Amino acid sequence: MERSFIMIKPDGVQRGLVGDIISRFETKGFTLVGLKQMSVSRDLAEAHYAVHKERPFFKGLVDYIISAPVVSMVWEGDGVIASARKLIGATNPVEAEPGTIRGDYGITIGRNLIHGSDAPETAKSEIELWFDEGSLCSWEPTMKPWLYE
Ligand code: RTP
Ligand code: MG
Repeated sequence: MERSFIMIKPDGVQRGLVGDIISRFETKGFTLVGLKQMSVSRDLAEAHYAVHKERPFFKGLVDYIISAPVVSMVWEGDGVIASARKLIGATNPVEAEPGTIRGDYGITIGRNLIHGSDAPETAKSEIELWFDEGSLCSWEPTMKPWLYE
C-alpha cells in the first residue's frame, strides 16, 4: 500500500494545530504508521529541500524548518500521496481552497504549516531520510473492510 511523508512544520506545532491536522488524515481513513516530534538539524532540512537549493527562498525556508520542533509522520493508504496534497492545499495558503489545511489556517507561503510528498519517488526518499529503517509500524486497522471495497 502507498505511503507518504507528511511533516507538520514549526508554525503548525507552535499554533497548536497538531491534533486538528492529524485528525484530518485519520478521519479521511488513512493509517498512521510513523510519528515523531523532533528538532530538525540544518543538514536534515537542507537535504529534505535539496531540490530548492538554488532558489532565493532556500535559506529562509531552512531557517523556518529548524526554528522550532516539527511533527514528522508517515501515512498509508490507497492514493495517499496525491490525496494528502489535496488535503494540504496549494503551496500559497492565500490561494489554497477553504477546507484544505493551508486554506483554513494559513496566510503566507513562508508559513504554510505542513509538507507532503509530491510523488512516489520523493515519498520513498523522504521516508528513508526522516525515519530509520524498521522504525515504522505496519498494522492493519480493523475498520479496513469499511474503507476499502
Ligand atoms: P512542501 O514541499 O513544503 O510540501 O511545499 P510544496 O510542495 O507545496 O511547495 P514547494 O514548491 O515544494 O516549496 C517548498 C516550500 O518552500 C517554501 N516556498 N517559499 N517564498 C517563496 O516564494 C516560496 N516558495 C516556496 C514554502 O514553505 C513551500 O512549502
Ligand atoms: Mg514540495
